[in-house]
Amino acid sequence: MKIITTPDPRLREKSEKVRVIDDEILGVIADMRKLSLDWEKEHPYELSAAMAAPQMGVLKRIIIVRDDMEDKKKATFTALINPEVIRADGKVVKGDEGCLSVPEIYGKVPRPSKVRVKAKLEDGTEVRIKATGELARTLLHEIDHLDGILFIDHIKDDEKAFYRMNDKGELEPVKDYEAEIRDNVELWGEE
Ligand code: NI
Repeated sequence: MKIITTPDPRLREKSEKVRVIDDEILGVIADMRKLSLDWEKEHPYELSAAMAAPQMGVLKRIIIVRDDMEDKKKATFTALINPEVIRADGKVVKGDEGCLSVPEIYGKVPRPSKVRVKAKLEDGTEVRIKATGELARTLLHEIDHLDGILFIDHIKDDEKAFYRMNDKGELEPVKDYEAEIRDNVELWGEE
């Protein structure tokens, strides 16, 4: 199992719903947790906040979200199965986003600041989550992955809103962002 990156076409597919939470599904979730933490070990300045199953090439509607997004030592994740946005509203706010599948590139993405999501936990319990701020952003980013959408799709190409991380862990504006993104990523959506 490994994290796949753009332009892998599997990142652009729609994932299918999980019908039964069986050992196979629990195994996928265990692999996601492990991969997120393995990735973090290799990226000292970054925190692995969340991940979606298609990012390891498994086209199932499963995401994991870090329980504590501040403290790297608290490395537990909640898995959400078949997560669905039932409402997204509030002020649209721009915030920095990165993605394990879009290496080194960060961008300012506009998202609604309030969201309601319904999903199932690993034990089959149905939950409804009301989130704001970073958690709302994270949920929207991850649920997008299940529909083949990447954060870069939400940034208009005239906004010059891309950054990359340097060796010291600082974000620097990407100057020739078009070339940079074009090399790394199939350009937003259209064939
Ligand atoms: Ni992502």
